[in-house]
Amino acid sequence: MRKDNKNTSWQKVAPWYNKITDEGRGHYYHQHVVIPGVLRLLDIGSQPSTVNHMDLACGNGVLATSLPKEVEYRGIDIAPSLINQAKKGDHNPKHEYIVSDITKPLPSADFSHVTIILALQNIQNPGRVLQNASQHCKKGGALVIVLNHPAFRIPRQSSWGIDEGRKIQYRRVDKYMSSMQIPINMNPGDRSSKFTMSYHFPLSSYSKMLKDAGFLIEVIEEWTSDKESEGRAAKMENRSRSEIPLFLAIKAIKK
Ligand SMILES: C[S@@+](CC[C@H](N)C(=O)[O-])C[C@H]1O[C@@H](n2cnc3c(N)ncnc32)[C@H](O)[C@@H]1O
Repeated sequence: MRKDNKNTSWQKVAPWYNKITDEGRGHYYHQHVVIPGVLRLLDIGSQPSTVNHMDLACGNGVLATSLPKEVEYRGIDIAPSLINQAKKGDHNPKHEYIVSDITKPLPSADFSHVTIILALQNIQNPGRVLQNASQHCKKGGALVIVLNHPAFRIPRQSSWGIDEGRKIQYRRVDKYMSSMQIPINMNPGDRSSKFTMSYHFPLSSYSKMLKDAGFLIEVIEEWTSDKESEGRAAKMENRSRSEIPLFLAIKAIKK
């Protein structure tokens, strides 16, 4: 993989991302799987006014408005249009949004909780982001990361297949252990469509990056889709949907 630090901002796809995330309220999986899972792992408890939270690569602020309103929140993203959308939809005086590159030094402050939601895989140097998260996380503080599952959702290297004999829909994985840089066409039908970059690392790499940044993994969860198919292929599709997870969540504690 190339070593330079690419511009991985989603500024150029911000209108599209604002649309698919309902102007910061979140897409289907944010609402049904990701945000409920993140809130459970954050385990903010009965004293939300003692919590100060940093959301790295916050996009248009999907998490912020789901947190207990007493929590002090700072969202950081490199895309100004997404940060503007986040500010538009969030009037909580305890919330602030900053445009910044999270691979570079960040404004100083210490946080009890840090999140990186569906974003580490869009950044060329995830290790640097985790070092930053660690630097600004209090000792004993919690980091929650959500990834598109790195073992089953590798752009261009994983796909569904159907075993007609066994009536099974299976997941095929062609390449996993190598780190990869993969451009993604956000709207394949459209000739003017924009690309974003995805970066694949195997789970063991994330584990090492967390260790090197001074975090201890507390728990790993794998989240499946809650959708249900109907019709002739329903049984096969529902089986594979409940067996092959969409997301991997890691909760780690700052040592
Ligand atoms: C898939 S979006 C996820 C946004 C949000 N967490 C969510 O769940 O809706 C990935 C985000 O990472 C941001 N990003 C990419 N590289 C970044 C960097 N170096 N610094 C800060 N943000 C970055 C993009 O601008 C984009 O908003």
